[in-house]
Amino acid sequence: MKLMTKSLAGLIVSAFLAPAALATGPEVFTAQKCNSCHSVKVAGIARLPNPDDDKAPDLSKVGAELDKKAIALFVLKKSEIKGEKHKKAFQGTTEELKTVAEWLAGLK
Ligand code: HEC
Repeated sequence: MKLMTKSLAGLIVSAFLAPAALATGPEVFTAQKCNSCHSVKVAGIARLPNPDDDKAPDLSKVGAELDKKAIALFVLKKSEIKGEKHKKAFQGTTEELKTVAEWLAGLK
């Protein structure tokens, strides 16, 4: 019985924690600071002032070129585009990566 109470408490706690893990694509994008290099104009996301001026592309139509899997692999630095790996490796969770890659792949 004691055990059951404990797991019930665990369930309640995870139910409360779940919304944070289920952030939207744009939320993950800004939380991971993708907008320090990229804008996504179509979603109203501006690029933050960046002294390094990286020339990272606006991602408003990235889904027309890359699907979800290609985006995920690229930001994990596990694949290359035009012979180059992405500047920065994704630092979030797998769940967050799925969310942001799915959102970006839908932008066409
Ligand atoms: C330090 C700057 C920087 C950050 C931060 C950054 N990117 Fe990039 N990204 C680039 C640059 C520059 C390119 C152009 C290709 C290259 O040189 O890697 C690029 C390319 C891409 C591409 C491919 C675009 C295309 O049309 O080929 C995707 C998708 C992408 N980034 C997603 C992301 C996501 C998602 C994040 C956040 C997790 C992110 N980027 C964070 C600099 C950055």
